[in-house]
Amino acid sequence: MNISTHDVLLVGGGGAGLRAAIAAAESNESMNIGVVSKVYPMRSHTVSAEGGTAAVMRDDDNLDLHAYDTIRGSDFLADQDVVEAFVGEARDEVIQLEHWGCPWSRDPDGRVSVRAFGGMSTKRTLYAADKTGFHMLHALFQTSLKYNEITRYDEWFVTSLLVDDGQVKGVSALNLRSGVVHAIPAKSVIICTGGGGRVFPFTTNAAIKTGDGMALAYRAGCPLKDMEFVQYHPTGLPGTGILMTEASRGEGGYMINNKGDRYLSEYVPGKMELGPRDILSRSFVHEMRAGRTFEDAQGNYVHLDLRHLGEKVIDEKLPFVRELTRNYVGIDPVKEPIPVRPVVHYMMGGVHTDINGSTPIAGLYAAGEAACVSMNGANRLGSNSLSELLVFGARAGKSAAAFALEQDIPSVSVLEALAQDEQQKIESRFAKSGERTEKIATIRQEMQNTMEQGAGIFRKEEDLKKTCETIRELKERYQNVGLDDQSSVYNTEITTALELGYTLDVAETLAHSALLREESRGSHSRSDFEKRDDERYLKHSLAYQTDDDPRIDYLPVAMTRWEPEERKY
Ligand code: FUM
Repeated sequence: MNISTHDVLLVGGGGAGLRAAIAAAESNESMNIGVVSKVYPMRSHTVSAEGGTAAVMRDDDNLDLHAYDTIRGSDFLADQDVVEAFVGEARDEVIQLEHWGCPWSRDPDGRVSVRAFGGMSTKRTLYAADKTGFHMLHALFQTSLKYNEITRYDEWFVTSLLVDDGQVKGVSALNLRSGVVHAIPAKSVIICTGGGGRVFPFTTNAAIKTGDGMALAYRAGCPLKDMEFVQYHPTGLPGTGILMTEASRGEGGYMINNKGDRYLSEYVPGKMELGPRDILSRSFVHEMRAGRTFEDAQGNYVHLDLRHLGEKVIDEKLPFVRELTRNYVGIDPVKEPIPVRPVVHYMMGGVHTDINGSTPIAGLYAAGEAACVSMNGANRLGSNSLSELLVFGARAGKSAAAFALEQDIPSVSVLEALAQDEQQKIESRFAKSGERTEKIATIRQEMQNTMEQGAGIFRKEEDLKKTCETIRELKERYQNVGLDDQSSVYNTEITTALELGYTLDVAETLAHSALLREESRGSHSRSDFEKRDDERYLKHSLAYQTDDDPRIDYLPVAMTRWEPEERKY
C-alpha cells in the first residue's frame, strides 16, 4: 500500500475516531485523512456498547438539567464549560446520526424513544434496543466509506508518535500483515484508542482495550489527566465480566441480595437501581462484607431480577441481555434472576485535552475514552460516553483539520528513517536470549492483581503504595520479556508484548495519581480519607512521565454556574 502524507491521522477506528474522521472530511474537501486501527473498525469496542446515548430530547427535560446531572454525577470535578458544550451539542449529533442511518428505537407515536439511566433526573437516553453501540458504529462506519479522502490502515498497530521539535509529525505503525514498521506522516494526529480497562483483571472491556493511545501520548510528553478515576459498572456477569446493561435497570429491573431485599434502599433510597455507578458498586461491597451476597466458585454476586418485566418487554427492549445470559450463564432472565457483580468498565481519565480536543503537544489531539476533556470528572453517568464521543470526536476532527491547513508537509525521509529505527528497536528489544525469560502472561496477571488489590473500588495508602512498588518492579521485569514467536506475519505475540508495555504505563499513572489524592470523590474511594476535600482536591491531576515514577501535577477545575455541594441522591 502506498502511504501518503495525511493532513489528519486518526489512531483508532471506533466511534470517536470515525466521527472525527468524518468531521475532518466535511470541514474541507481537500483534506487527506488516514485512519489507523489495530482491528477492523467494526471490531472496535464501541460495537459492544449496549444501553444508549444521552441527549435532551423531550419537553420535560432541558440542557441545564442534563448539565447539572452530569456535574453532580462527576462529584463536581467536571469542567463546567465542557459539560455545557456537551449538552448543547449532543442533540444535533444524535439527530445527525439518525440521518446517517442509526435506527433509534421509537415510541408508537413516532418519536425517538428515551429510557431512564443512572444518575439522570429524567428519561434522556436514546437507544437502539440494547445494541446501541453496534448500530452507532455501523452508521459511522458506513458514512465514513463515502469519503474518498479517508484512507484506512486496518490492522496496523501504532508503536509510537513521531514528534519533532515539540510537534507531532505522524506515527510509526506496524503493518500486522507484513510485520514491517512504517512511518505514516501527518500534519495532525488524533488519538481515539479508547480506554485501558485491561489493566484490571475483571472488566467489561474487550481484550484490545489496553490504553495504547494514553501510553503513546504519555511517552511523547503529554500528561494523562485524572487517571485515578476508574468506573466499576455494578452489573457484570461473574467470571466473564460481560456487561448486563444499565438499561436493564432503566427498564425497571431490581437488584436483590441473598435476603431477597432490594438492598439499595439502604444506600441510595432516592434513586434505588438508578443511582450512579460508583455508589451502586460500593453498595455491593458493603453487602458482601455484611454477608448478604450469594457466593459460588466465581465469587460473590447479587441478583439482577428482570422477571417482573415480562417476556415481551425483555424481547423488545433487552434482547441482547437475554441472548448473553442464555449463552454465557445458561439462564433465561424471563424465568430466573441474573447473577451480577461490579466490574471495571470505564476510565474517566485519559490524555489531557482542552474543549476542542487539543493536547499540550502541537498537532496532537484526542477524543473519546482515550481522552480526558474533563466532562466526566470523578464519575461518568451511564449513556453520556457515546454522546461524548460524537460531540468531542467532531470537535477534535474540526480542530485538527484547521490546524493541518496551517502546516508544512513533514519530511517523509526523516520519518521513514525513524520508523526503521523503531523496527530495529522492537526486534532487538524482544529478541529471545538466555536472560529474557519473563513471560507476558505472568507480568500481565501480576499487574492486574495488584491493581485490583490496591486501586479497586476501595483504596488506602498502604495498599496503593504496594501497588506502585509492584508496578515499578513489573516494569523492570518487563525488560526481560523475550518472545518465542519470531515470525513476522500477524505476530500477535509482538502486539501483546507491546500492549503489555502500554498497560504498565497506564497502571503507573493510575496508582500514583490515586495515592496522592487523599480524599474520596466519585469513583475514587479512600477508606483512609472518607470525605471529599474541596479545599485540597477540587482539581484535576496530571501525570507526566519521568525516568522514575510519574510526576503528578494539578490543574484547576473550570466552574461556570454550579457551586460544589454535597452529592446526595
Ligand atoms: O450499561 C450500559 O449499557 C453502559 C452504558 C455506558 O457505559 O454508557
